[in-house]
Amino acid sequence: MRTKEDIRKKYSILTYGCQMNERDTETIAGLLEKSGYVEAASPEEANLIIFNTCSVRTSAENKVYGKLGEIKRLKKARPDLLVGFGGCMAQMEEVRKKLGEGGVVDIIFGTHNLHELPRLVEKAEAGVERPVIDVWPEAGDIVEGLPARRTGGVSAFVNIMFGCNNFCSYCIVPFTRGRERSRKPSDIIDEVKDLVQQGVKEVTLLGQNVNSYGKGLEPETDFASLLELVNEIPGLERIRFTTSHPRDVSERLLSTIASCRKVCEHIHAPLQAGSNRILKAMNRGYTREYYLDLVHKMREIVPGVAVTTDLIVGFPGESDRDFEDTIDMVKRIRFDAAFTFMYSPRSGTKAARLSDQVPLEVKKERLLQLNEIQYNIALEANRRFEGKDVEVLVEGPSKTNPRKLTGRTRTNRIVVFEGKPDLAGRLVMVRVREAKTFTLLGEAVEG
Ligand code: SAH
Ligand code: SF4
Ligand code: F3S
Repeated sequence: MRTKEDIRKKYSILTYGCQMNERDTETIAGLLEKSGYVEAASPEEANLIIFNTCSVRTSAENKVYGKLGEIKRLKKARPDLLVGFGGCMAQMEEVRKKLGEGGVVDIIFGTHNLHELPRLVEKAEAGVERPVIDVWPEAGDIVEGLPARRTGGVSAFVNIMFGCNNFCSYCIVPFTRGRERSRKPSDIIDEVKDLVQQGVKEVTLLGQNVNSYGKGLEPETDFASLLELVNEIPGLERIRFTTSHPRDVSERLLSTIASCRKVCEHIHAPLQAGSNRILKAMNRGYTREYYLDLVHKMREIVPGVAVTTDLIVGFPGESDRDFEDTIDMVKRIRFDAAFTFMYSPRSGTKAARLSDQVPLEVKKERLLQLNEIQYNIALEANRRFEGKDVEVLVEGPSKTNPRKLTGRTRTNRIVVFEGKPDLAGRLVMVRVREAKTFTLLGEAVEG
């Protein structure tokens, strides 16, 4: 048994899934450090390995199960290694059952009780109970003031709300993250001010559907008002936000994006599918005509805006005609970028119970076809920047080429460029020499 005085306890966190999970990992790290743990250089050196998992698609779950298998071998060699399992997968009863049978996991915690992790770890260390399981089926009140170990450098994620009420028929998130609830504007502003004090220049406001921010708060408020408040914070340079549900994007919000200097010209508004029949079956609450009109308004009201999206192919019952409607939308709208997915049935969701599931081969074929078209459109959109100067917030050395720097434009394009290393953390102008599908290449403009 280890004791509290053992100051060399090391943790390692394996993070899967979306930005919410990345942000949660920062809290998990903060909590563990407060309990005396330090970060291990690798999972092999850790005394405690935490899985922060995602269940949005089968492929995400399979990655986790694969890694659990590896950790099982590690644990055989080092029986005192503790393994914690949290995140969206932990919210699902069938996953917990499977884990209970697997014998690798010592602690299971959910998305609603991160703040309890230190107590659960202590319990596991005491070794009386195994596994220690504490997963809340529903969210409690929002817990403010938790420690966080930020890892994003000049850029930081800030939760503005949790959960989702939309119940898109394919999606597991409302089941794993619970009902929608918003943080108070004052708590968000305090957090952003504090981040700016620590050197942060860009925040990304996070929510499954940021456009419905503020509902249920006393007094009630909305996302546009929050953007105006955050825009006033001195020292902050850029504000991003994700995700926008197309149904809830108002004209007032678009004019606010246009008028607030710090709010970047980028809207991620997942279309999911181009066929009205499929959109209805997905329970998305809008039509293709509505979405086309919305994109038109976005481009009219917010000059230079980048519009990005998520698309799913092979939703149950999707015919060739339906799929052609998606392709048609992609060609008409010309998204700056799109994340594309094959539909993955999630047990417990409405769509998983539909009988007309699309064969895997068809989904694969449609995904390839969609990507080919979208990648060309993205490349052409990027080519518009060749020869131009763009403002880049420099994150640091490029991972693929450490002698170069990397950062993003206001429209969220990744730029890899030549420049002095001391530009890291600063806003600089970069002259674009060459456009690729996913990046712009160039060099910093001197002076
Ligand atoms: N709240 C965000 C993100 C949800 S998850 C939103 O509403 O857009 C991110 C993306 O994963 C979704 O936009 C959707 O395109 C995709 N996705 C969700 N469930 C899926 C499933 N069962 N199969 C395939 N893709 C899925
Ligand atoms: Fe899932 Fe829909 Fe909620 Fe997004 S809006 S998290 S896709 S249920
Ligand atoms: Fe995010 Fe995956 Fe959960 S996408 S909300 S971590 S299911």
